[in-house]
Amino acid sequence: MPVSSDVPANRTLEGEPVSAVVILAAGEGRRMHSTRSKLLHEIAGHSMLSYAVDAATALQPEHVVVVVGHLREQVEAHLAEIAPHVTTVVQTEQRGTGHAVQVALEALPELTGDVLVTYGDVPMLTADTLVALVADHRGARTSVSVLTARVADPTGYGRIVRGAGDDVLAIVEDRDASEAQRAIDEINSGIYVFEPQTLREGLAQLRPTNDQGELYLTDVVGLAREAGRDVSAYATQDAWQTEGVNDRVQLARMNAEVNRRTLDRWMRAGVTVVDPGTTWVHGSVDLALDVTLLPGTSLEGATSVAAGATIGPDTTLVDVEVGEGATVVRTHGSLAVIGAGATVGPFAYLRPGTVLGERGKIGAFVETKNATIGDRAKVPHLTYAGDVEIGEDANIGAGVIFANYDGVTKSRSSVGRASFVGSDSTLVAPVVVGDGAYVGAGSTVTGDVASGELAVSRARQRNVPGWVARKRAGTKTAAAAEAAAGVRGAAEPDGSADLPEQTPHVVHAPLSDQTVVAAGAAGPETQQPDPHQPDTHTDPVDPTDTDERES
Ligand code: UD1
Ligand code: CA
Repeated sequence: MPVSSDVPANRTLEGEPVSAVVILAAGEGRRMHSTRSKLLHEIAGHSMLSYAVDAATALQPEHVVVVVGHLREQVEAHLAEIAPHVTTVVQTEQRGTGHAVQVALEALPELTGDVLVTYGDVPMLTADTLVALVADHRGARTSVSVLTARVADPTGYGRIVRGAGDDVLAIVEDRDASEAQRAIDEINSGIYVFEPQTLREGLAQLRPTNDQGELYLTDVVGLAREAGRDVSAYATQDAWQTEGVNDRVQLARMNAEVNRRTLDRWMRAGVTVVDPGTTWVHGSVDLALDVTLLPGTSLEGATSVAAGATIGPDTTLVDVEVGEGATVVRTHGSLAVIGAGATVGPFAYLRPGTVLGERGKIGAFVETKNATIGDRAKVPHLTYAGDVEIGEDANIGAGVIFANYDGVTKSRSSVGRASFVGSDSTLVAPVVVGDGAYVGAGSTVTGDVASGELAVSRARQRNVPGWVARKRAGTKTAAAAEAAAGVRGAAEPDGSADLPEQTPHVVHAPLSDQTVVAAGAAGPETQQPDPHQPDTHTDPVDPTDTDERES
């Protein structure tokens, strides 16, 4: 069960529906220095624009309109993907915030209800704040309400000029402000709710009589006052919600702030975060009681972690479901499921379609893809398991490769229940290893292996006596061999009593074809391979080297 977080449930808007939310997003975003639209840069895994669209959509307005301009093809393509319900309106020339709203209204039918204006680059603004702004506006019965905040450094922002009785008289841009006005620390967020008639009349009267020669939406406030209408301001205590992102320094700071809030919320709900400074959790992630996140952990997308599981250090999981009490160490995973009590890593790579059963194991330097690994099954070391089904209680030895790709098509393989695949084997798909079967270490398996059978395919070992002395004379190795012979010679006068029986130095035909040893049958070799032993020896002898025959 995921623990409940203490995020307040979304407040819903009461009364008349909002007619439209206009999201301004045509600006250039020059300070990002990016070929990608500023609006598509991400905060906690989602585009900045998606936050603006989500907050607007939560009010259930009749229209959500995004005003696009710079890099609009990118922005439109993104919106088509994440929010097909929004209308995009093109502002070809960026002639100011007032002009942008004019362009938006021209594209809409006559509006009768409240019109909100927000920005595409203010990601922390919440739907709750928009609801509160509209509620305040309706309560105050004013023609315009502006969302404001008090900030330590108001440089660059429009200032809220209030009269006696705290009425809002005007909004003055930083560059147009007097010395006294610059000292005002209450800033215009650029987020407003307008009574539609006031907005239409104000927009019609805008003139570019300012430092930038633009049509300023802020002037609608002064014009409303001149027309004898009231203007109110709703101040948020959370200045982050009015903060825009103009460059990548601000982007990083905001990402850190969003992450800090997410982690605080989870820690208060019973999750241990050992190092909040290096732990990143997206808003969409679900955590449970007594989950522990170790340093360097990043949980993204639709990831969920069940009670008591430990993730990290240095682990990134995207859309991964982690079961109760599982541990995932130094792992990169996406679109995978990890069963309860399972262990993963260190240094595992779980690609999409990996499903690990309860108390299963995916160990060090293992890569998996489209792999179902049964309960208690183990893939502990250095394996590639792609397009495979591994039965419960099966054991896959070190260095096993499921060769799933022939250069044209991918094929699946399977290993049955409680079967054992010896180390350094390659299973060339498609291949089926039955329940309770063995594959000998070092085998290349190209044919099916039935239940109860042992499959083995590898060259027979041959030892060439005296090879080191002849071919590596004068090396440290030769000296060691000589010393060893001397020790044996001293202990046993005939110098051979303790030696294992020498393999006759006959060149065997290599057992290159797969051999299956059926249950109960005598093997084709006098000496059965021990499938439990990883086969690590290599033969340095060139088979074309005829020298061995001379010895
Ligand atoms: C604006 C406000 C200022 C406020 C600040 C808050 C005006 C005149 N000033 O200033 O009072 O404190 O926001 O951040 O409104 N945009 C368009 N088309 C345009 C111009 C702008 O879509 O022609 C969009 C931009 O993409 C941006 C937003 O409107 O998302 C704000 O524009 P920007 O130029 O950044 O306004 P500021 O000068 O910051
Ligand atoms: Ca701005």
